Amino acid sequence: MCGIVGYIGKKQAAPVLLEGLSKLEYRGYDSAGIAVRGNGGKIDVVKTKGRLQLLIDKTENGNALFGTSGIGHTRWATHGEPNETNAHPHVSEGGKIVLVHNGIIENYAEIKEKLLSHGYTFYSNTDTEVATKLIAYYYEKYGGALEAIERFILRVRGSYAIAVMFADLPDRIYAARKDSPMIIGAGEDSVYLASDVPAILKYTRNVYYIENLEIAVMETDGVRFYNVDRTEIEKMPVHITWDAEAAEKGGYEHFMMKEICEQPKVITDTVNYVLKDKKIDFTEIGLSDKLIRATKRITIVACGSAYHAGVVMQYVMEGLARIPVRVELASEFRYRKPILERGELVVVISQSGETADSLAALREAKRLGAKTLAVVNVLGSSIAREADFVFYTKAGPEIAVATTKAYTAQLIAGYLISLKFAVVKKTISEAASAAITDGILRLPAQVEALLSDRERIQKFAAKMTGTKDVFFIGRGIDYALSLEGSLKLKEISYIHSEAYAAGELKHGTISLVEEGTLVCGVITQETLAEKTVSNIVEVKSRGAFVVAVAAQNLLPKIEKIADFTITIPETAPQIAASLAVIPLQLLSYYVSANKGLDVDKPRNLAKSVTVE
Ligand code: F6R
Repeated sequence: MCGIVGYIGKKQAAPVLLEGLSKLEYRGYDSAGIAVRGNGGKIDVVKTKGRLQLLIDKTENGNALFGTSGIGHTRWATHGEPNETNAHPHVSEGGKIVLVHNGIIENYAEIKEKLLSHGYTFYSNTDTEVATKLIAYYYEKYGGALEAIERFILRVRGSYAIAVMFADLPDRIYAARKDSPMIIGAGEDSVYLASDVPAILKYTRNVYYIENLEIAVMETDGVRFYNVDRTEIEKMPVHITWDAEAAEKGGYEHFMMKEICEQPKVITDTVNYVLKDKKIDFTEIGLSDKLIRATKRITIVACGSAYHAGVVMQYVMEGLARIPVRVELASEFRYRKPILERGELVVVISQSGETADSLAALREAKRLGAKTLAVVNVLGSSIAREADFVFYTKAGPEIAVATTKAYTAQLIAGYLISLKFAVVKKTISEAASAAITDGILRLPAQVEALLSDRERIQKFAAKMTGTKDVFFIGRGIDYALSLEGSLKLKEISYIHSEAYAAGELKHGTISLVEEGTLVCGVITQETLAEKTVSNIVEVKSRGAFVVAVAAQNLLPKIEKIADFTITIPETAPQIAASLAVIPLQLLSYYVSANKGLDVDKPRNLAKSVTVE
């Protein structure tokens, strides 16, 4: 979702800005633009609709724009269609103020009315132009850039990360944020700004996290931070240790395939984070045994795939630790006036740690007095900073919009948290806990084996490109996994797909099954296998073409019925989703790639959904 970059220093700014924007492409966008302060002081703005490459071509790799400071933006349309006029940067009358923005200004209509009454005119449909002119209005009225931004912060509702250039303040870029991510990097004689770390990693590893309602003033020789009351604040940079390579394709055709193949390592790294001498140690997470014992109920909130990981965790936690667990979409939880009981722990799962609904759900849970545990991948993200406890998944930077390795890491976190609760609450025997732990430790090698046998899936996927509808069915954890398999397929292949609890199909949906309809049955849970097989027989007898993803030991139950089978190695049923998800990811990937689609950046989607 919208990417922001900024640079002030001694180098030519435009190539740096374009390079930064290219590193943020994964966030999703439909137009792009940059603004550079030319040597004469005038700020030049260049924008294009569509791919960043068009902007790169239009500015001759940025070489056609002279000047050593500037801001840039990739826009994911919210207010107004994706076109050049609505693209950022936006400018105030006479080009005095130039601004880029990520987020949504909720009260923009009312502010626009006010500005119209003061004689301002508008050329675009965006809330960002309103933000630009509001700052222009305050700048005109009060005379100071800091004061104008402070007034802006106090006046607007919603979320934003903004970077602003003032035509008559040549040596500075101003930035501020609320509920939208933005970081600042300090290099030698240069300061960088970006929505996310990969955009600046080539230049510096010293990163400042701007908190909500803080203002940053960037100059060539450094950056200063202010509170909303304009008091200067001290901030220490965080040194980023992960490698820039981690955010590059490394020989793979797509980030998604690279990230699928990284999963064995991701599992190992996430396990090693808390497993010490085969015992789960939560010292780093801070969640004490006392608090675990006092936990009476758990509510998991998340969005999209993270929600699907939460559904798996619900089954595993309830099964192992015998605690009632409810899993809920963050966008529903935040508005439904949830009732949280004493002793309730709210677990928020999020790769980015910036998803607007998940962040709001976390705040609501805290407001209601619950203890909160975040399962987050991005270090220092908003959800990680605001939760009481953080379990960091160790997936590393995930660039493909469709999550694979972060989902896998979320599953692992869910198993380990559930096991920890079960051990502390003494709801499973030591032997049972040791068996599951051993199973988790075997997962990386088993995933590796599944990955090395991907050609069969690739060949099958080639036949699926014309498919119009797919149903994924399963029971228990297999249902939870079906939700993810279905989302993965539809989001990158644009094939309509639905996931159903297998037993639910005959309550309506089965009427859609006809000759050739593709049904994917997931069968990893021994106790439920026969029931799912019966449901598969039902669709098969109505003409469905059946693909079965089945555990090795359950294969005899299904191989005669299914048209195509994919086998996964045997493991403990609680953790089987980590194996069965691999063929489902591969299937989606190959279908999308075969259709020639933009696998890493599917249409209309954004990596980090920072608006609701
Ligand atoms: C799907 C996908 C999304 C995210 C969802 C939550 O492949 O990636 O459904 O899972 O937008 O994002 P995070 O985990 O960043 O909160």
